Amino acid sequence: MVKYFVAFLVGVTSFFHSFSQELKSPNGNFKLVFALENDGTPTYQLFMKNKEIIKKSKLGLELQKDKKSLLNDFELANEVRNSFDETWKTIWGEETEIRNYYNELALTLKQNETERQIVIRFRLFNEGLGFRYEFPEQKNLTYFVVKEERTEFAMTGDHTAFWIPGDYDTQEYDYTESKLTEIRGLFKKAVTENASQKQFSDTGVQTSLMLKTANGIYINIHEAALINYSCMHLNLDDKNLVFQSHLTPDAKGNKGYLQTPCVSPWRTIIASTDARDVLASRITLNLNEPCKITNTSWIRPIKYIGVWWEMITGKSSWAYTDEVPSVHLGVTDFSKVKPNGKHAANTKHVKEYIDFAALHGFDAVLVEGWNEGWEDWFGHEKDYVFDFVTPYPDFDVKAIHEYAKSKGIKMIMHHETSGSTRNYERHLDKAFQFMKANGYEAAKTGYVGNILPLGEHHYSQSILNHYQYVIEKAADYKIMINAHEAVRPTGICRTYPNMIGNESARGTEFQAFGGSKANHTTVLPFTRLIGGPMDYTPGIFEMDIAKLNPNNNSHVNATLANQLGLYVVMYSPLQMAADLPDNYNRFLDAFQFIKDVPVEWATTKYLEAEPGYYVTIARKDKKSNNWYVGNSNGYNSRAASVNLDFLEKGKKYEAIIYSDAENTDYKTNPQAYKITKHKVNNKTKLSLITPAGGGFAIQIKEIK
Ligand code: NOJ
Ligand code: CA
Repeated sequence: MVKYFVAFLVGVTSFFHSFSQELKSPNGNFKLVFALENDGTPTYQLFMKNKEIIKKSKLGLELQKDKKSLLNDFELANEVRNSFDETWKTIWGEETEIRNYYNELALTLKQNETERQIVIRFRLFNEGLGFRYEFPEQKNLTYFVVKEERTEFAMTGDHTAFWIPGDYDTQEYDYTESKLTEIRGLFKKAVTENASQKQFSDTGVQTSLMLKTANGIYINIHEAALINYSCMHLNLDDKNLVFQSHLTPDAKGNKGYLQTPCVSPWRTIIASTDARDVLASRITLNLNEPCKITNTSWIRPIKYIGVWWEMITGKSSWAYTDEVPSVHLGVTDFSKVKPNGKHAANTKHVKEYIDFAALHGFDAVLVEGWNEGWEDWFGHEKDYVFDFVTPYPDFDVKAIHEYAKSKGIKMIMHHETSGSTRNYERHLDKAFQFMKANGYEAAKTGYVGNILPLGEHHYSQSILNHYQYVIEKAADYKIMINAHEAVRPTGICRTYPNMIGNESARGTEFQAFGGSKANHTTVLPFTRLIGGPMDYTPGIFEMDIAKLNPNNNSHVNATLANQLGLYVVMYSPLQMAADLPDNYNRFLDAFQFIKDVPVEWATTKYLEAEPGYYVTIARKDKKSNNWYVGNSNGYNSRAASVNLDFLEKGKKYEAIIYSDAENTDYKTNPQAYKITKHKVNNKTKLSLITPAGGGFAIQIKEIK
């Protein structure tokens, strides 16, 4: 309900030219100052409790040569102020209701020479700022091409940053923690350690960018509602400590094709002296449009297992044969080629997964490698790579559908596009119709390899429009989408809650590709998850990958208890139990937590948080009075303190604690854990030792 909505217009003229405009957050903690420089360049500056946190920073856009840029020569033509306070209901999320509460200042700027107008809209929340550019319909500005957005974020000092290299095609990096001035020196190492593609400079980083000042102020920079625009990276001017927006180019080097009326995404700055407030902020969701899907009854959180980890580890294969079919899809007769004997997506094996899912109360089973095309799926820039409707000869779609149905299990479709966005769009309707006909409600999509059309990037405007097209088309078919390798989310799941998952960061798969840093999941909530949930795929119980595939020496850099904690720490309405059923059968008492943990939450409390070091989160089940607590710990062993004061006063509870044992070591003894039970209430304070790479999970059940 909108509590109040005040708008007043102030007609202003060039009289205001040298004046600055101020805006305060509803609680007065934040102050934004907007000013025009003498040459008419717009600037902003941000204060938190009277401390400057973003120094005076320029705003504007550089346009391609045929147009004068939108950088300077502006005067203030109008200003509009609003206050907004609305509480909206989530379809799914970390809580059932979210308050959207801000003060707004919209400034219309007129460019003297061209008489063009732009609006810069600021929304100041109690946790930070959002602002965007708006381009109204007007005589002198209809079509324009962006050469570069010139938004600055001027830092007040040499802050600590948790960063990944600016790359137009992947976010699948470990994070580096360093001072801003150290980024340049560490850049090459950060790139070569990872499967990177194109970086634009030696100080270019991706958002969401997490920063910490020497005075203990946490600052997060990201974007919201990235639609029909290019993804923003940040380029650091490391002499002046100023981040400059850097948009992802297309094949021609352009950054965006716009037509008025239109808007840019929101640029967001969340700040607090308490890191937990960064996790609790809902600025990103609030800056997105309300849900556009009228009937959402078909959208529901899912806990799933998958015919997946065995291929990721190299134990099995996606491909049916080791022969490379010489012709493109639809012509090869797969029944005549020699099977490689490692094809996991076969009817018999899939039924075993369905049995396991049904036995342990999962909602769904994902199967990858079910369809023709995996023999030469990437690395060859093959356009017509998959058709998304033709199963391999050993995968009986109808039989599997019927079997799953009889067991109350849904199947999750897999659509690996291999980066060929054109080919996917070509087949999309038929692919979705095929899903509906065979009982699939959700698809995991993927964009491995170079984007086709060649020269485009995973994060350029036209490819972002492809991801958006898939989400909206899927909504027409009542299909949920979990996109891997697509652009990192920016809160669009508020508008399209059928976007139930995204990878778009370094997920668990990298634990089988050489391993990830042991503190990775203490950084992700502050970076990747600021934009929306991640299909991180936790739950690995066997850390020694050679046990699955003797040719793979990778080690999972986490303890078993840490893996359990991730079901609470890494919020997602789509949670996978990623390991093989065999590995769960070895540790059924620990597996119990994965079975019990919900995927739908009523509310969330952030108990402890320090990016790169530890995160402890408590969430209340949407369907009961039970609570779940999760912790992920970085490299320093520590005692986590868990204050249960969020429990209902006067009620009694039993806590089942799944924690690391005295001798747990993420490298040498990761599977040591203990399960203890305690009577607790809202006065209980628990202290739990977490070793490097460790963590814990707690189920707190109401005793009735
Ligand atoms: C990369 C995805 O992240 C992974 O989950 C998937 O199994 C492979 N691509 C194959 O599509
Ligand atoms: Ca991936």
